[in-house]
Amino acid sequence: MVEYIGIEGIRRIVGRMGPAAFMEGLAAEIEADYGRWNDFDKSARHAIHSPGGVIELMPTSDGRMYSFKYVNGHPRNTARGLLTVTAFGVLADVETGYPLLLSELTVTTALRTAAMSALAAKSMARTDSHVMALIGNGAQSDFQAIAFHHMLGIRQLRLYDLDSLATEKLARNLRTLNLPGMQVTCCRSAAEAVQGADIVTTLTADKRNAIVLTPGMVVPGMHINAVGGDSPGKTELHADILRRSDVRVVVEYEPQSRIEGEIQQMPASFAVTEFAEVLSGAAPGRASPAEVTIFDSVGFALEDYSALRYLHKLQLENAQSRQQIDLIPDIDNPKNLFGLLAHTQSGAARQNAWGPSQLAVTPG
Ligand SMILES: NC(=O)c1ccc[n+]([C@@H]2O[C@H](COP(=O)([O-])OP(=O)(O)OC[C@H]3O[C@@H](n4cnc5c(N)ncnc54)[C@H](O)[C@@H]3O)[C@@H](O)[C@H]2O)c1
Repeated sequence: MVEYIGIEGIRRIVGRMGPAAFMEGLAAEIEADYGRWNDFDKSARHAIHSPGGVIELMPTSDGRMYSFKYVNGHPRNTARGLLTVTAFGVLADVETGYPLLLSELTVTTALRTAAMSALAAKSMARTDSHVMALIGNGAQSDFQAIAFHHMLGIRQLRLYDLDSLATEKLARNLRTLNLPGMQVTCCRSAAEAVQGADIVTTLTADKRNAIVLTPGMVVPGMHINAVGGDSPGKTELHADILRRSDVRVVVEYEPQSRIEGEIQQMPASFAVTEFAEVLSGAAPGRASPAEVTIFDSVGFALEDYSALRYLHKLQLENAQSRQQIDLIPDIDNPKNLFGLLAHTQSGAARQNAWGPSQLAVTPG
């Protein structure tokens, strides 16, 4: 049997811990895995594009465990009442190749993306950051707000979305959450939202080279958590922001980010730092209080590996609520896979479907 976490399962796990504690725990797992960067088999994800979106496969392994995520990105889906991003994934044992866990990753992707954003911001944003602009107030936004409140000490959020109903949704959810000390302001433009912001998180979904932030909106010392530009031809920052002489850009895995990140707008010679270098101390996340730092997030397979490993551990710790799925055959004689089919039918049905009964006599 394979461990299974569906939507009810993730609600239960996150509900038990609370989303803030869950994301903090997940950020620690991601940090630990980025800390052993060289153990991982890494590749840019495999993406199949269509006019309306993209479907991606994201595999990685550290030689002991293997994971992959299936994820889509379809910005026009919300107009049809569907999510922009959905996902599921598998954690497997490399020694046998057997899957250990099949899990939903739609909610988990939002949790892991926010955990990763907050983790990066901890080494990149100014330590006195308290105000964050959140531009794009859709499915991912609540998670980012909670993570930055809990892990960075953000106490003022300035919200903006082209769709005012999305901003109302986020403001309403934040009121219900009642995060200690949090002030929320709904703004009428991105330019208004970034006023006085120490951190700007861009979380928009639009399959084009959008210009959510212009150079004039960026001030010295700002940290930009650029999350929504994550596919070829799908960016959020004006390229002149990247060209500033005081800019430092940190990416997850450079070969993938060159294709999918904000830096796809720049020549191959444009200098970037990988997050693993920041964690190891080989490069700073921020060199001075006045520097403009950009976390050019696209989402890397290692973060989903960490999330699946974390979920597997939490699932095993809670034996009562554990669910399993019969995804892989459990048979006494592994050479008699066929016997599994023959033994699942009643005698009469087997006779009709399989012909002479001697075909089905081998014990499974
Ligand atoms: N980097 C990562 O690891 C990662 C992970 C998950 C999702 N994403 C990306 O994050 C983005 C947000 O995902 P989501 O699930 O919240 O999508 P969503 O469709 O639920 O929300 C996106 C919001 O952006 C708004 N928007 C679009 N263009 C805008 C603009 N110019 N200014 C202001 N608002 C604008 C839309 O009205 C919508 O409310 C997507 O592009 C998705 O692909 C990245």
